[in-house]
Amino acid sequence: MKTYLKSHSCGELRAEHEGQEVALAGWVHRRRDHGSLIFIDLRDHEGIVQVVFSPKEAEEAHAVASDVRSEYVIQVKGTVGRRPPGTENREMATGEVEVRAQGATLLNPSKTPPFYINEETEVEDLLRLRYRYLDLRRERMHRNVVFRHKIVQFIRSFLSERGFIEVETPILIKSTPEGARDYLVPSRVNPGRFYALPQSPQQLKQLLMVSGFERYFQIAHCFRDEDLRADRQPEFTQLDMEISFINEEDMLNLMEDLHTAMVETLRPDVRLIKPFPRLTYAEAMRRYGTDKPDLRFGMELVDVSDLLSESEFTVFQQTLAAGGVVRAICAPGGAALGRRQIDELTAFVKTVGGKGLISIGLTGEGPVEELTAEEFRSPMHRHLRLEEVRAIAARAGASRGDLIIMVADQEEQVGQALDGLRREMARRLDLIDEGLFVFCFTTDFPLLGWNEDEERWDPVHHPFTSPKEEDVPLMDTDPGRVRARAYDLVCNGWEIAGGSIRIHRRDVQEKMFSLLRIAPEEAQDRFGHMLEAFEYGAPPHGGIATGLDRTVMILAGERDIREVIAFPKTKTASDPLFGAPSTVSDAQLKELHIALRPGVVIPKESP
Ligand code: AMO
Repeated sequence: MKTYLKSHSCGELRAEHEGQEVALAGWVHRRRDHGSLIFIDLRDHEGIVQVVFSPKEAEEAHAVASDVRSEYVIQVKGTVGRRPPGTENREMATGEVEVRAQGATLLNPSKTPPFYINEETEVEDLLRLRYRYLDLRRERMHRNVVFRHKIVQFIRSFLSERGFIEVETPILIKSTPEGARDYLVPSRVNPGRFYALPQSPQQLKQLLMVSGFERYFQIAHCFRDEDLRADRQPEFTQLDMEISFINEEDMLNLMEDLHTAMVETLRPDVRLIKPFPRLTYAEAMRRYGTDKPDLRFGMELVDVSDLLSESEFTVFQQTLAAGGVVRAICAPGGAALGRRQIDELTAFVKTVGGKGLISIGLTGEGPVEELTAEEFRSPMHRHLRLEEVRAIAARAGASRGDLIIMVADQEEQVGQALDGLRREMARRLDLIDEGLFVFCFTTDFPLLGWNEDEERWDPVHHPFTSPKEEDVPLMDTDPGRVRARAYDLVCNGWEIAGGSIRIHRRDVQEKMFSLLRIAPEEAQDRFGHMLEAFEYGAPPHGGIATGLDRTVMILAGERDIREVIAFPKTKTASDPLFGAPSTVSDAQLKELHIALRPGVVIPKESP
């Protein structure tokens, strides 16, 4: 783009610019001194171009080029020329041309950066975040930030064309329960009172439906004080949506259209499975052990409990007697794994909630029904009967050369362990097709989950989710069996969106609160505004929120959402660049009517 200091961007120069006089400004990406000639790869936001400095053609410019180092900021004036035949660089978009410098001005020198900006090297996370403004100069990060912008632009125009309007909702609100802890903000003008930062704009968007907007969206900032993982940040962004007069089908179709168009436009190189598969929660748990299955590969879970009812192996006997299950996956070609790798898997399963595993490698040739005792390998060989192994192999659809992995435990733990193992095996055996994106919907979640510690029912999603009409009577008799009108969108094994059809009647909402053991006075205090709004002609409505960071991460081919957030926090929710969170002065605390509790130890080092 043309500015005071630039006639062109470095990255836009092509053969068609040959002969043009240009002014460029940017960073010294790389500098090569060939004695007489100096070559500088000059970088700006749009890309890189080679500039040649010759002492014969421009002595002063050459002298400037002699002194600059990596990341110095310079302005160059010169003429675009074709590179001499044989020296073109096909890897560079500007590789056919170079700029012959006539003048150069140093705009600002640079200290030696703490890591290479012009190379994709491993750099320690903390250092990258401490110098995030330099990390973002690196090509991959720069590209990710631009790509995120394109996704947001795409979403805005897609939804606007379909009648959605974007409404901003406040950041200082009242505590909204969504399962995580709230970030609180003290109020100077209201001593002893606190705002909460929104975990999501859930209640606000529902109120917008009561206001008659019918189709709302927002690129919304959300805040949750929870334990962090690769796909979780304390501060993250949602594409938040709410629509009136819809049912589940309307919502899922819209999400499918949006994500199909987004991927086809922004990642035309990947394939999609259409229509998006749909699984009920029960089916997903049975077949994959998780509500967010990665459907890019098979290895479905199979239940083999009944085949082991006569087993003499105490692990199976005890598990089954205690109401547990034995389930298995079959890893194609996995029999080739050696003892050490099986030990690694055994150690791995303990990190994903399992106590252990039983592996059976099938060797030899022919149908598994003809397997002999010598042809299966297992550390538990002497505990397994040949007929059992044959039956398990047949049920798991295993062939010779495959590895069967079994886990015995309570159903929930087995699901968790096998889900983890299934993903790990797919990675180890290279079963993941990176050119394929598989989206799927999980539906019919349970409405409530039993909270052992508090001895009460908790909403699986949030308290505004509607139960399925036909399950409403179960709310009184068997709350655990009530299904919710909730849905998730999953992509490549990551949960990227969650939402539901909402409760829009006061009586049903009150019933829900009473099931959650929220007393009427407390419900009035916390949610009185919602209950009241429902009495003024609230339309039936539903919505969803997509984790924008996760969506961008997947589309950008990254594995951590921090790679697509310009200024993320560390795993301990801190910001090493600003040194946040930080202590504040006594005067500030006093103004906010806050005193730290005696005994609070504040570490000297900023986090
Ligand atoms: P939910 O809590 O399922 O639903 O969140 C929706 C989506 O937001 C993303 N997400 C996160 N991303 C990064 N870091 C986090 N800490 C984080 N937490 C959640 C996930 C998730 O699928 N109000 C409801 C939505 C609704 O019912 O409309 C809600 O927030 O991708």
